Amino acid sequence: MNINNLIKIFFLLIILSIEIGQSLIPLDRYSTSSILIDKKLFFFGGETDHSLKPSTTLDQILYLDVSKPFNTVNPPFEELPNTIPFGSSYAIAFPSSQKNVIYLFGGITVNVNTDLDDFKSILHSYNLETNEWTIPTTSGIAPGRRREISGVINNNTGKFYAFGGLSDQFTGTPNNTIALNDMNIFDINTLAWSKGSTINAPLPRADYTATLLSNGIIVFIGGRETNAFRDVDINQLALYDTKVDKWSLMTARGVTMENRFLHSAVLTPDERIIIFGGRKVPNDDPVLNQLAVLNTKTTPYEWSIPQVPAIDNMPLTTSAHSATLVGNYMFINFGQITPITNPQIQLPFFYILDIRNFTWIIQFEPEKSTIDTTSVNKSPTNSTSNSPDLPVEKSDNGKQIGIILGTVGLSIGIGTVVGFLGYKYYKKQKYKHAIPTAGSPTI
Ligand SMILES: *[C@@H]1O[C@H](CO)[C@@H](O)[C@H](O)[C@H]1NC(C)=O
Ligand SMILES: *[C@@H]1O[C@H](CO)[C@@H](O)[C@H](O)[C@H]1NC(C)=O
Ligand SMILES: *[C@@H]1O[C@H](CO)[C@@H](O)[C@H](O)[C@H]1NC(C)=O
Ligand SMILES: *[C@@H]1O[C@H](CO)[C@@H](O)[C@H](O)[C@H]1NC(C)=O
Repeated sequence: MNINNLIKIFFLLIILSIEIGQSLIPLDRYSTSSILIDKKLFFFGGETDHSLKPSTTLDQILYLDVSKPFNTVNPPFEELPNTIPFGSSYAIAFPSSQKNVIYLFGGITVNVNTDLDDFKSILHSYNLETNEWTIPTTSGIAPGRRREISGVINNNTGKFYAFGGLSDQFTGTPNNTIALNDMNIFDINTLAWSKGSTINAPLPRADYTATLLSNGIIVFIGGRETNAFRDVDINQLALYDTKVDKWSLMTARGVTMENRFLHSAVLTPDERIIIFGGRKVPNDDPVLNQLAVLNTKTTPYEWSIPQVPAIDNMPLTTSAHSATLVGNYMFINFGQITPITNPQIQLPFFYILDIRNFTWIIQFEPEKSTIDTTSVNKSPTNSTSNSPDLPVEKSDNGKQIGIILGTVGLSIGIGTVVGFLGYKYYKKQKYKHAIPTAGSPTI
């Protein structure tokens, strides 16, 4: 080894140590699944305009330690060394009774190196202690493939509810897009799938939010309905009572709201639903009042629009972002801003709203008290300390895929650059970004 090589190695080591000292700057992404487990906020997969791999669908798992203070300008994102064994987007993440397992339900599942469909199961589980991905062995009839869904888990019963969504070319329906309106229930204690009521169910719907109130009622807000993907009247709330498995409809009062889809919702401790962002049918225009509050303590429920001072033109209205309640703060991460087809303006957006006084903050200070574990898909505080061990099927699939992809990755290394450009063009034609609809010119 001559002196030149030694010098090169020396500088390489310096560069590496600088890299290690800095926090990760994540790629822009949308339709990511977020979940708060203890003091870690996880982000699974998503779609990106700036993928480093052939697929726009990410297999990356990011997390943020919310026990420490940080600044949203340079948030200390970290990446788990292991990935999801497939590219995942538009999925729902929810926790199991034993807090060390996260389930990932539905969405797009692709091979990140070929971008081909890689569907194996509607449900995967990820063990936070062993980092292992498995396909749980479930009973009952598992729901068909779908995306652009929302789901909730009931804290006390251990039941997960996922309604509707849509099945398209990326989720098992090659030449069509079909909106759905079945209610699927998964019991995390028995690992059994079942169907909820269809009587008085809303029309087939996607891109809505679902929020579980403490009285067991799930509130469905907005979205798009039927195979024509018309906007849902946001003042007409579909309610599902999980205690008696019954649908009902409620006309909200208060301000007249703009309809929207691909917005987000969180539930505050005093049972207000805060919604943020979303876009409008048919041109994907942003909504004017991106923040709105639904008070569920009055009957009928009441919409209001809080007056929120913006800081530095922030926040831009995003859609297909994630929203998670961390104590008294609503975290809004990632998403797309209009025009959604412009990759130059897409950034890893990060906004934090203090829900006590509707103030956007840049500097996050964790609260001294225990951090609320409520998230978009509510965590079960306890459900089952004496629950049976999860009878999960041990699967080596994840590892095998990793090895196969690794090999393919090496052998196609050079071909990828050329293939990538061609692929990008092709991708634009395919439009994975949201539902292809009759009236939408942005497709
Ligand atoms: C989808 O369309 C293609 C091309 O028209 C056709 O070859 C294929 O059989 C169709 N697939 C299904 C499931 O209908
Ligand atoms: C979860 O359950 C606990 C008690 O079991 C309750 O105090 C809490 O409000 C519930 N959280 C939600 C979001 O329903
Ligand atoms: C909002 O409330 C928090 C907590 O009470 C407080 O620290 C903060 O200063 C308030 N912000 C404004 C702008 O009043
Ligand atoms: C959770 O379960 C444990 C063991 O049964 C119990 O001691 C604890 O009080 C429970 N916590 C809540 C919040 O219900």
